[in-house]
Amino acid sequence: MAYSVPHLKDFSPAALDRAVGELLSALDQESGQVGDAAQRKAFRDRWLARKDGILTQINELWLKAAPREAKRDVGQRVNKLKAEVEAKVEAALAAPVREAAAALDISLPGLRRSIGAEHPIVRTMNEILAVFRNLGYSVAEGPVIEADYYNFEALNFPPEHPARDTQDTLFIANQASKPPRERLLLRTHTSPVQIRTMEKMRPPLRIVIPGKVHRRDAPDASHSPMFHQVEGLAVDTNITFGDLKGTLDHAMKALFGSDVKTSFRPSFFPFTEPSAEMFVSCFICGGSGKRGADICRPCKQTGWIEILGCGIVDPNVFEFVKHNGYDPEKISGFAFGMGVDRMAMLRYGVDDLQLFFQGDVRFLEQFG
Ligand code: DAH
Repeated sequence: MAYSVPHLKDFSPAALDRAVGELLSALDQESGQVGDAAQRKAFRDRWLARKDGILTQINELWLKAAPREAKRDVGQRVNKLKAEVEAKVEAALAAPVREAAAALDISLPGLRRSIGAEHPIVRTMNEILAVFRNLGYSVAEGPVIEADYYNFEALNFPPEHPARDTQDTLFIANQASKPPRERLLLRTHTSPVQIRTMEKMRPPLRIVIPGKVHRRDAPDASHSPMFHQVEGLAVDTNITFGDLKGTLDHAMKALFGSDVKTSFRPSFFPFTEPSAEMFVSCFICGGSGKRGADICRPCKQTGWIEILGCGIVDPNVFEFVKHNGYDPEKISGFAFGMGVDRMAMLRYGVDDLQLFFQGDVRFLEQFG
């Protein structure tokens, strides 16, 4: 029930105290409920309006009605009360508009949070991993900040070996006081995780290793100082180059379509012997090197696209993990490493690598 000013009959101090208390608690309660501008005006008028506001009624119903002997006491109380009511009303009106009323409108549409999309590079990486998971491979990972030993030495790049020059390494500063093999760098490939995994797990082994790698390269449409690789390693008794070719040929057909052909060309990596680069027939032009009257840019008219490096694990690599069951006299293995970013560019027809790393939602949303 809304408060209304009572006609006072009892003007004893106790009765006055009670009447004042009731009025103030009604005011407090109403102060907490003022919302929009219309409510504020009504609230102010109800309490302070000269004509028939609550303060005016108090004058009539309390002060004027008081018997002579109580006038002085009632007058003092009413004056004090008026000041208090005015202050409280002004304070309530000065409070910021409460949002609660609006927030409680359950008929308004909810706030929609966009759920985002898998980044095209992550998606490509996951698709590659899935192909190998289906072949019984497990997934291994390792640190991006890596020791020289794992990135180079245990992969058969001896200190000062010129093959290190091909890797454009970014080194962590202030490492000179450490022994060379402990010095830290940003890994230039995912191959160090081959060694890390063989240290932990005995053969036979079948792993794929996704991850970020870094090389000192200026960013442009096809280069980035940070990019992604998926590495693979299979170790068992009697693994041959035939196993390598069969596995990778299957994987490429699973990724790019059963029509693609693979081609292996001799190459060099310190950690594999023999080594190869593997190409797939261009899945953009079908291997013709042409697109209608135009040339096919992705394969540079060759009809072939380089996808990865691979080879038979060099026995020198196994020497570093021989203590964990990798005796090169008894076991053998193959390995491969592929660049994910260029593969994602080809698959999604993206012609500028930098678009992947700029975090522009308008670009990324297209892959949702
Ligand atoms: N790590 C090499 C690179 O980044 C790629 C590679 C080649 C990985 C041959 C391998 C491999 O595992 O056997 O250039």
